Amino acid sequence: MSAPRKAAIIGGGVIGGGWAARFLLNGWDVAVFDPDPQAERKLSEVLANARRALPGLYDNALPPEGRLSLHDDLGAVLDGAAWVQESVPERLDLKHKVHGQITAMAPAAAVIGSSTSGFKPSELTAQGARVIVAHPFNPVYLLPLVELVGDETHVTRAADILRDIGMYPLHIRREIDAHIADRLLEAVWRESLWLVKDGIATTQEIDEAIRMGFGLRWAQMGLFETYRIAGGEAGMAHFMAQFGPALEWPWTKLMDVPDFTPALVDLIAGQSDAQSGHMSIRDLERLRDDNLVGMMRALKRTGSGAGGVISAHEARLPQPVQADLPVTVMRQVPQSWTDYNGHMNETHYVEIGCQASERLLEMVGVDMAYIEAGQSYFTVENNVRYLAEMRAGETVRVTTRVMAAEGKMLRLNHVLTRADGVTAATIETVLLHVDLATRRSAPPPDHIALALRDMAAAHVGSA
Ligand SMILES: NC(=O)c1ccc[n+]([C@@H]2O[C@H](COP(=O)([O-])OP(=O)(O)OC[C@H]3O[C@@H](n4cnc5c(N)ncnc54)[C@H](O)[C@@H]3O)[C@@H](O)[C@H]2O)c1
Repeated sequence: MSAPRKAAIIGGGVIGGGWAARFLLNGWDVAVFDPDPQAERKLSEVLANARRALPGLYDNALPPEGRLSLHDDLGAVLDGAAWVQESVPERLDLKHKVHGQITAMAPAAAVIGSSTSGFKPSELTAQGARVIVAHPFNPVYLLPLVELVGDETHVTRAADILRDIGMYPLHIRREIDAHIADRLLEAVWRESLWLVKDGIATTQEIDEAIRMGFGLRWAQMGLFETYRIAGGEAGMAHFMAQFGPALEWPWTKLMDVPDFTPALVDLIAGQSDAQSGHMSIRDLERLRDDNLVGMMRALKRTGSGAGGVISAHEARLPQPVQADLPVTVMRQVPQSWTDYNGHMNETHYVEIGCQASERLLEMVGVDMAYIEAGQSYFTVENNVRYLAEMRAGETVRVTTRVMAAEGKMLRLNHVLTRADGVTAATIETVLLHVDLATRRSAPPPDHIALALRDMAAAHVGSA
């Protein structure tokens, strides 16, 4: 295995901490530079949340974590870095100072990204710095989007690395203040401030208007695909014709912004406290993360939006090292799989068994192409022995023994082992080969039968 690559994180606050977690959990070494004496504590809290949430997106294990170090010497942080990410406060004078130092000291081949929410690359590079905009979204360890703006070659190299750590690079071809996403968010934010200021709605009512309706649509289809459907069978052109005239109506206050007065701040902050003050920010973060993981796992089933990014990344994750018996699953237990007893719910033991059966069958040629050609295996029996608890984040490794492969019948034994070596469960699964045209059992073709019989013979006596 090649040596871990190194990321230098300059500024380890909300966003820098998220970047550090994203790289670290994807196997990179991470060095952090942040003058705040509280930086280490804050970083460890972000990391704890990331370790709790990110592995839950995947049905394969992430690579082993890299090494994290904090330094008060910028040169040491930059030394040997393949990626440098600046996430210091959003002040242009500070960004200029920091990027002057980074450009002077970072390896020539390093990607240098700025997390800036609003500055254009031309503003960041005005004093000769070598930097592109790499604008992420909070929480950086879970949300895939990174808006890339700047020098084309630099952006292309950045995009390759971002895909490697499970992110979605969106190349913005022409620089513009606040990039794409923040412009959209700014419009919604502006209208929301008006609605609260004018006493039309509370912060809670605005949040309900988003999360009970269009917020759910946006996460899976965005704006335009959603409106295409809203146009009915006639599609987008019809939608535009129907709602076009509304653009002339006073539905929006356009660029008019409310005065940013202490009274407006008090109004919004007071309503927000009344709405959410019963939870700490860390509790809210964990709630947000659990919901995001659950939603993204749902999107993964259809390959929609962020779900497609997770599947693509999952396919690139390292395969488990094989043993005498095939290792059919290596994964972490998602938070959402645990129940009120604080351990993995029994249904998910079966889910892991199902993943293991599918992997074993793939190994002998029963893959998607085989199934699409009209034959498959159906499970007819599962016998689970629950032997030890598994908690969220725990790594589970499954080995599968082919016990018997006779005619239409296949009998497998899956052993689920925790990272500490304890056997968490055994699952005996009986499957029947099926002709998908008749939906009735039928013997497998000779090459599949033979491959399974060979495996059964090889597995006798293997541990
Ligand atoms: N918060 C968001 O939702 C969000 C989202 C995307 C992008 N951004 C951008 O990310 C950047 C950082 O924002 P944040 O929300 O993480 O702010 P933050 O205040 O949480 O973190 C900034 C960190 O930078 C450190 N810092 C200050 N001066 C420094 C220096 N000279 N060298 C190294 N570290 C220094 C501070 O100690 C602090 O820990 C900004 O450019 C912002 O626009 C923020």
